[in-house]
Amino acid sequence: MVKIAPSILSADFSKLGSEVEAIDRGGADYIHIDVMDGHFVPNITFGPPVIKCIRKSTDKVFDVHLMIENPDLYIEDFVKAGADIITVHQESSNHLHRTIQLIKSYGVKAGVSLNPATPLETIEYVLDELDMVLVMSVNPGFGGQSFIPQMKDKIRKLSVIIAERGLEVEIEVDGGIKLDNAREIADCGADVLVAGSAIFGAEDVVEETRKFKNI
Ligand code: DX5
Ligand code: ZN
Repeated sequence: MVKIAPSILSADFSKLGSEVEAIDRGGADYIHIDVMDGHFVPNITFGPPVIKCIRKSTDKVFDVHLMIENPDLYIEDFVKAGADIITVHQESSNHLHRTIQLIKSYGVKAGVSLNPATPLETIEYVLDELDMVLVMSVNPGFGGQSFIPQMKDKIRKLSVIIAERGLEVEIEVDGGIKLDNAREIADCGADVLVAGSAIFGAEDVVEETRKFKNI
């Protein structure tokens, strides 16, 4: 069954604790946490202190998506704040293999994310080191954008590569996922679907999370 990872980027930050409790109650598998630094992406969100605070609101897996430059400098801080999975961008690390080893050295899971224009070949030689590949289906930085249709082909190709190599790497897809395209994206081979505005823009966040779980 496909996993659901609501992105708190679109939550009401004035009541972040109860927003996290709502997606937990709705059956979220992962809590998707978007960290942006204003350099790698043209937007700024929050860092480890905020993550540490919401760690008290749920026991669910914290899926931390780092959209930051020089990620190696901050990995330890995110581990200490409560991250379970740390995903860095392929485009943000000059020594991706080293960054992945650093993440795993703390005993947390390691993911690599690819911007829409970044080819799958760029992770060919690190794929067997990974727990997750995060396929960006929008250009990172903002919630509420439209799914880029070419990413369906990328997800399908990645899923074939993972199967052929007999690996256990999860494919997570992030950006522009709504109730009406979620099934189709899962059928392309996605294991985890991120949804931000579709869940937190709804009247009833608990109910909307449930609907995604039931696609
Ligand atoms: C975008 C973030 C996404 C974002 C998705 O840079 O990585 O996680 O929250 O938002 P929606 O679901 O609204 O496209
Ligand atoms: Zn994200």
